[in-house]
Amino acid sequence: MSAPVNQLKDAKFGAAAFRASQGGVLPSVFPREMGPNAHKYVAEVIDGGLQSTIVDRMEAMIAEAHGRKHCVGAPGCTQALFTTMMAMDFEPGDEIVVSPISDYGTVAGALFENYIPVFADTEPGTGLISAETILPCITERTRAILVVHKFGLTPDMDPIIALAKKHKLVLIEDVCQAILATYKGRIAGSMGDVACFSFDAEKTCGADIGGATVTDDEAIYSRLVNRGPSRGAKDVPGFGRVHIFRGFPTRIPQCTAATVMANFEILPRQIRQRQKTAAMLTAMLAEMPGIIPYSVPQGRTHSYWMYGFTLELEQFRCNIDEFCKQLSQEGLSGVGPARYYLLPESLWFVKENAQKGRYPFCTPPASRIPVYSAASTPNAQRFLDRWVRWFWTEKYTEKHVEMMANMVRTVVERNHR
Ligand SMILES: Cc1ncc(COP(=O)(O)O)c(C=O)c1O
Repeated sequence: MSAPVNQLKDAKFGAAAFRASQGGVLPSVFPREMGPNAHKYVAEVIDGGLQSTIVDRMEAMIAEAHGRKHCVGAPGCTQALFTTMMAMDFEPGDEIVVSPISDYGTVAGALFENYIPVFADTEPGTGLISAETILPCITERTRAILVVHKFGLTPDMDPIIALAKKHKLVLIEDVCQAILATYKGRIAGSMGDVACFSFDAEKTCGADIGGATVTDDEAIYSRLVNRGPSRGAKDVPGFGRVHIFRGFPTRIPQCTAATVMANFEILPRQIRQRQKTAAMLTAMLAEMPGIIPYSVPQGRTHSYWMYGFTLELEQFRCNIDEFCKQLSQEGLSGVGPARYYLLPESLWFVKENAQKGRYPFCTPPASRIPVYSAASTPNAQRFLDRWVRWFWTEKYTEKHVEMMANMVRTVVERNHR
């Protein structure tokens, strides 16, 4: 990295991150279409003087849609995963096998709970882990597998479910990027012991900042409620609140729950539109030399938070950054590589703590200290080094897809060897 840390700009998230890429020839993710009931639900919160049933109803809606008994709202998926980690009752130094290509939010909770993330590699050519890549990471200290359904697509879940069962590991799904994606007819978020969702503004069911955890497990559910929304407190008659766990407040705001409900109601229609236009672009890109569209394996559906393709770099005279720059100049705003998604490389403070043996990266409590670096997950690194991606939206029409295909074709023809 060239500049010292104090000269780097702070990262932006949510709607603010999109401002720079708005106003081009293609529609942008923002402003979002809000569900027609959004005003009504938000008004309920305001008219009820902040005493509404919206959070309960939103949680019931998300639980039911995923065939789950329980749902606990949170202010974001980072917090939903943090609450989930608080609810796990693992010991500091216990290991969690995690997908290496993801957002910081995937592992933040595990790190706060002093668990050790162990990154499994991805299957070649995909951003997804598999039972084969997880298996070598399992030790006697492994307690959970945290699977990320990346970009809008689930990994091959049946072998992962079998592996988790065999080794008695908790299976956690990070569904942030893949709400309403399916695997062999099952919906993402219905396959693990626990699943976490994001309703962040930029996500497929964007509803400002928000998240949720779903589960069927009664014990996990009661710990989730106690340690998150109830901040680890119980009411003792005649005394009042006592704190039985170092909880942390993770209640979902009622106005957010209102917009989650409204936007979740229109989500199936939006995802069908995303899938239709993405399939059209995939067919067009498949005919271009040096471009490998992301394939959706049989039995799975992609819910297209992001769209992307692999660039066969050896076939081009330019590098991936130059390719993306030219694509952006052609009008595909927001396009770029996604190297930052490589967690073993991007978690600088974790790398440093592990190198310096800072708690919990010391023995005890850990049994081993992983080396965090890009080289530790070579397939994931190779995949991201060639991966071109941009945000997808239900606003894209057939005409927009043709425009996008022409932009890619122009850049391919200009740079192909
Ligand atoms: C896979 C994944 N997990 C977790 C998160 C964190 O979600 P949130 O922004 O709702 O906290 C994100 C956000 O981008 C994500 O993509």
